[in-house]
Amino acid sequence: PAQNAADGPFPKAELHLHIEGTLEPELAFALAERNGVTLPYATEDELRRAYSFSDLQSFLNLYYALMAVLRTEDDFADLTHAYLARAQAQGVRHAEIFFDPQAHTARGVPVGTVIEGLTRALDTAEERYGITTRLIMCFLRDESAESALATFEAARPYLDRITAVGLDSAEVGHPPSKFAEVYALAREAGLKCVAHAGEEGPPSYVWEALDVLGVDRVDHGVRCLEDEKLVARLVADQVPLTVCPLSNVRLRVIGELADHPLPAMLEAGLLVTVNSDDPAYFGGYADDNFTAVRDALNLDEETLRTLARNSFRASFLDEPTREAYL
Ligand code: HPA
Ligand code: ZN
Repeated sequence: PAQNAADGPFPKAELHLHIEGTLEPELAFALAERNGVTLPYATEDELRRAYSFSDLQSFLNLYYALMAVLRTEDDFADLTHAYLARAQAQGVRHAEIFFDPQAHTARGVPVGTVIEGLTRALDTAEERYGITTRLIMCFLRDESAESALATFEAARPYLDRITAVGLDSAEVGHPPSKFAEVYALAREAGLKCVAHAGEEGPPSYVWEALDVLGVDRVDHGVRCLEDEKLVARLVADQVPLTVCPLSNVRLRVIGELADHPLPAMLEAGLLVTVNSDDPAYFGGYADDNFTAVRDALNLDEETLRTLARNSFRASFLDEPTREAYL
């Protein structure tokens, strides 16, 4: 359908979104109060001033610390409702949402509490927000392969709510091949597979994600441009890359938005999508990312439409639903 400014943000799918990365300072303080958790920041403003990152790890330190406020099913449901409301306002019609079970089980919150809370909100998403959803369970790559296996087994009773497994957290030093076994189990169980690769890590990590883990999509993947053969492979197989422009700037993966390789990636024939990653921390949700790249890179209407179309093409929606968006 034709869209213009009066219709609001055009329809898009969000394919790279960590639900814990949607925890806004306001909700963090409210949940801290509700759960009797003391945050190491006195005010929301003081917390926001901590959102100045030098790399992925410096962000992850704050990201994991702030999660201490998430304790009950209600907390996870409230977090998810807050995200869905914002996503709706940004034109998101479909969202494939990451969560990090080990970041919660490590604090004594059972995986069932996390999944029940998230799905309670997600079960209302279509009716309340007009958003279809999928859940992607991520393993923390800086934890052991055994911990990932134990997490997968603990989540087995809930696999009917989970569409895919993913891999996130500190990349360098933790190549995808470390998780070959748990990905094989996930594929046997009929799950799709994605993995963060080529954000801070080298192109070889993207190769491993493809050839060892058998991923259906690569999250980030921007460093693929350093390897011509890898680009050719990603283009030939039309492997989607879930690129996160504002995240890349805030985590200093690239210098500034005007230097972002997104246009070069499109030009190379890569199946690129635009996503928000951890919007509460990186300064914008889905449409904010579209608007920011449009302005910084002078993208025309046709390119923005291609990016939106790519987001549905790259999704795990069933074929007829996906086709209806294209
Ligand atoms: N990279 C790796 N791990 C993450 C990220 C990211 O951008 N966001 C949340 N966990
Ligand atoms: Zn991410």
